[in-house]
Amino acid sequence: MDPGRLAALIGEIEGLLCSIPDRIDRGLLEGARNLRVISQLAVGLDNLDLAACTELRIPVGHTPGVLTDTTADTAIALLLASVRRLPEGERLVRNGGWERWSSDLLLGADLHHSTVGIVGLGRIGSAIARRLRGFDCRLLYTGPNRKVSAEETLGVSYLQLPDLLRSADHVILSAPLRSETRQLIGRAELKLMKPTATLVNIARGPLIDPEALADALATGEIARAALDVTDPEPIPPDHRLVLMDNCLIIPHLGSASHATRKAMAQMAVDNLAAGLAGERLPACANPEVYDSS
Ligand code: DGY
Repeated sequence: MDPGRLAALIGEIEGLLCSIPDRIDRGLLEGARNLRVISQLAVGLDNLDLAACTELRIPVGHTPGVLTDTTADTAIALLLASVRRLPEGERLVRNGGWERWSSDLLLGADLHHSTVGIVGLGRIGSAIARRLRGFDCRLLYTGPNRKVSAEETLGVSYLQLPDLLRSADHVILSAPLRSETRQLIGRAELKLMKPTATLVNIARGPLIDPEALADALATGEIARAALDVTDPEPIPPDHRLVLMDNCLIIPHLGSASHATRKAMAQMAVDNLAAGLAGERLPACANPEVYDSS
C-alpha cells in the first residue's frame, strides 16, 4: 500500500496484513489507535519496528518454517549458477555469441568438495548446510552463538567471521537484518575473502555495503557475487552491480514457489484472523505481549 494511504487509514484499522516493502515505524504505529494485530507475509521483520509494537502491545505474526526449504533451495541455485557462470552462458547463447565448443569457454569454479561458510545458522542456514553435505562440501558457520548440537548433526565447524571469510571458497549470508548485522560485509571483510571466492546473499540487502561489493568485484578482490536481495530494493537497472558480469542478481525470489507462497499466505491469514478474534497468534514474533505483567 502507498505509505501516504496507509498513514491516512492507520487510525481506523484493527488488523494490518503487511509485507517486506511496507515501512511500519513507530510514528505510524503511534497513530494506530485501534490496531489489534499486525500480520507480516514474510519471516523477516526488519521493515517493522518490533520493539514499538511490543511496547504498544500489538501482537505481530510472521511466517517462519514454511519457507525454509524453498529459500535454502534458492541459495543453492544461486551459488551453483554463479560459480558455473550460467547467466553468462545463457546471455552468450541468447545474444548469438556462441560460435563453437571451446575448452576454455566460461570456465568457472566447483561447488563440490569446496569449503562453504554460512553466516547465520538459523533454520534456513541449517537447511543450506544439509543440502551442501550432498556436494561433499566442508562446512563452516558463524553467528552470535556457537551451536554445538548442530555441529554434530550437520557436520559444521564454528569460526569467528574474519576466519570464516579467510577460509571459505564460497560464503552464504543467511542472517537476519538487525543493527548488529547491517553492513556486516564491508570493505574490510571483503578484503579478507579469497580472490576466487563467491559471496551469496539470500537474507537482506543491507547486510552488504553495495559500493564496497561493487569495488571488490571490479578489482578482483573477490571473484563473484549472487544476490537474491539488494540495497536498495528494487535495485535500479543502471546500478553498478547490475551491470557487472560477475554479479548475478534476482529480484528477492527466495521463497517464491507456488506452494510456499500459498503456505505463507495461509499462515499470514491465520495470524490475522486469530488477532482479530482476540486469540493468541499461531506464529507470534513478540509473545511478550501476552505476558500479564
Ligand atoms: C522472508 O520471508 O523474510 C523472505 O525474505 C520472503 O521471501
